[in-house]
Amino acid sequence: MAGSGGRANAAGSAGAGPRIGGAGPGAALRAPCALLLLAVLVLCAYCLGAVQGRCLSTARAPVPAPAAPRAARRPGVPSLRVARGHGRQRFPQALILGVKKGGTRALLEFLRLHPDARALGSEPHFFDRCYERGLAWYRSLMPRTVEGQITMEKAPSYFVTCEAPHCIHGMSPDTKLIVVVHNLVTWAISNYAQALSRMPGLPSFRALAFRHGLGPVDTAWSAMHIGLYAQHLAHWLCYFPLSHFLFVRGECLVSNPAGKVGRVQDFLGLKRVITDKHFYFNATKGFPCLKKAQGARQPHCLGKSKGQPHPRVPEAVVQRLHDFYRPFNCKFYQMTGHDFGWD
Ligand code: A3P
Repeated sequence: MAGSGGRANAAGSAGAGPRIGGAGPGAALRAPCALLLLAVLVLCAYCLGAVQGRCLSTARAPVPAPAAPRAARRPGVPSLRVARGHGRQRFPQALILGVKKGGTRALLEFLRLHPDARALGSEPHFFDRCYERGLAWYRSLMPRTVEGQITMEKAPSYFVTCEAPHCIHGMSPDTKLIVVVHNLVTWAISNYAQALSRMPGLPSFRALAFRHGLGPVDTAWSAMHIGLYAQHLAHWLCYFPLSHFLFVRGECLVSNPAGKVGRVQDFLGLKRVITDKHFYFNATKGFPCLKKAQGARQPHCLGKSKGQPHPRVPEAVVQRLHDFYRPFNCKFYQMTGHDFGWD
């Protein structure tokens, strides 16, 4: 199971992290340190939130893309036409709603190879952070498309943003919605790994995931809360029918990227242009990479923050989390009519 072994490194075991608020001898001495640590963590979290929380500046709004260099034909790699800088800016007809650390960047980068899919490279965070800027602003960020092309964008947290379904429905009730979902235990560890890489002093995974040792799961921690897919989906279904959704298993994006992207192309009504000829497995990265990125001639793997090593988490912790998520997963399988096989 991915959580306990997988791409584990020695970056800390769940039991080894500092505990806050411990009782017993010395607790009085440890309390001020713990409070200080807590204050520093809160400050770090605030700063991170503030940095991530910025809207995409209009100054950085993409201008019409310059004509892309003609792609050199290489044996085995079909030449893909790249959209030129003409056409109109339109609202996205399809959105990748999340979830964070599910594989959303990989999916978007793969889809961008398609000549009929134009996607915003950066994340505007319009429906979760910048809605007050207005729909005209949002549209002004979009790449230009010509007849027959679709516009897309992705954000890691639209799926868990309460206002997003209502606002997206207001933009267009026809919007196609893609959600990259993942085995929640692996996924929670992946989130923790990312946070740990930014804040090396973070308490252990176990300390964050559970209250009172291995007590109740702390659903206030975002890595736990986001995983309650059924709850989030229930909210979306008040606005969009299930047929508007495509749930992509993040694990399959790694094991069979061409197969998964094939399904996504079908869902988007695009010709199946992206195939296994576009991918290769990069043994150093440990993930599939593109033989050639959009508009480039070189092979392209995702950046360092994608495919990070995961810290080792004790089997007991992994098991407890599986038990916790099982009923939520069942509910999610019922709602979507699809067994994702995470149990
Ligand atoms: P890890 O870094 O924990 O391995 P997102 O882009 O939504 O933030 O998702 C990041 C996750 O995408 C990574 O989590 C990794 O598992 C997954 N992923 C899927 N395909 C990938 C690829 N081709 N290269 C790198 N990461 C990929």
